[in-house]
Amino acid sequence: MSARQDWLAAAGTALSGTVAVPGDKSVSHRAVMFAALADGTSRIDGFLEGEDTRATAAIFQQLGVTIETPSASRRIVHGVGVDGLKAPSAPLDCGNAGTGMRLLSGLLAAQPFGSTLVGDASLSKRPMRRVTVPLARMGARIDTEDNGTPPLRIHGGQAITGIDITTEVASAQVKSALLLAGLYAQGETVVREPHPTRDYTERMLSAFGVQIEFSPGYARLRGGQRLSATDIAVPADFSSAAFFLVAGSIVPGSQLRLRQVGLNPRRTGLLTALRLMGANITEENRGEHGGEPVADLVVRHAPLRGIEVPEEIVPDMIDEFPILFVAAACAHGPTVVRGAAELRVKESDRLASMANGLRALGLQVDETPDGATIHPGVLGGGEVDSHGDHRIAMAFAVAAQRASAPVRIGDIANVATSFPDFDGLARSLGMSLQPAD
Ligand code: S3P
Repeated sequence: MSARQDWLAAAGTALSGTVAVPGDKSVSHRAVMFAALADGTSRIDGFLEGEDTRATAAIFQQLGVTIETPSASRRIVHGVGVDGLKAPSAPLDCGNAGTGMRLLSGLLAAQPFGSTLVGDASLSKRPMRRVTVPLARMGARIDTEDNGTPPLRIHGGQAITGIDITTEVASAQVKSALLLAGLYAQGETVVREPHPTRDYTERMLSAFGVQIEFSPGYARLRGGQRLSATDIAVPADFSSAAFFLVAGSIVPGSQLRLRQVGLNPRRTGLLTALRLMGANITEENRGEHGGEPVADLVVRHAPLRGIEVPEEIVPDMIDEFPILFVAAACAHGPTVVRGAAELRVKESDRLASMANGLRALGLQVDETPDGATIHPGVLGGGEVDSHGDHRIAMAFAVAAQRASAPVRIGDIANVATSFPDFDGLARSLGMSLQPAD
């Protein structure tokens, strides 16, 4: 576990420059997993050098997969085939990564050997029954703690059968866990979702040669298929770009270009929300990268107005609520969020973390079980706690750019899980953000 670190953030200058944010976290996790399961050697370009995705790569090494790192952000994965993983000799540590743990639970439940998945303090509090209960219906045996949290003790050697299921929560992690178990199942697996979620598992399995039928909110595959190696180009992570989209919008005089950001429609709900708020964000140099739509995003400062966030876009911006709260704090008029109860079970309770942090800086935030109303105002200085949540830490670093006095942001070490050099990049654009003593 990383040592406790804090940041000191304050209003800097207008932001300007061109930014290349790191590779997509969701795509990086899946690239390493599917390449490990494939027949043959796959190259991954643009791999996120974050703690979460490195933890997943290290787990596959423990499972007997050879992974080379020819240079930063590159991996060469020597796939062992769907039946080639080896029993690990120690628990597998997913670190802070819900994606790693939940996807692996489906994959490992179908192996002939047993395994144990563990995580850090935050992950150890997160709900796992959303995967273990439907996986049990497929024949898996996975023990959790009494309250449904990790460690996950996975009994190997179970006969897995296909399932036709509508998931209770809209979660790409749950859908992906079931599809990965489904790869090993007798018969067909069909996953239907209450709201469509990101479809990287479906798209990437298809790129690895798996026959899979999918459309928004629906996926179906037959068990017993093999994967064949392919090269993966990881697009830049929209969720990392999001912090600079809001920073550029709220700091007067700013203009930023975010280069070739992944714009999968299941990820870009924040763009819709910011545009409804009056943000000035244009898309230039549209193209495709690794099968995903990408474009440069050019953001210029603009006055924002509060909105009611349309509930149907909540799953498409599920990781962006911390920074949306910051945009809302700097807007004219209140912003209302509903239908976002999932935020309570992310790396921290993000509704509470953001509401408490904004209150500490002098704003009024009314929390509800599944959302909040953010009343904008003048942000003061003070101390906020990120609760070890990377996105809360980065959101408050952006908020501080509009604060009337310095903001100390506590417990920021986990920023390295998704965006290792966030502070260096932020400083190079004009933000004031330093390690605190
Ligand atoms: C992810 C799915 C989302 C998201 C997480 C990454 C993925 O979680 O919050 O950061 O890669 O599948 P849920 O699907 O559980 O909402």
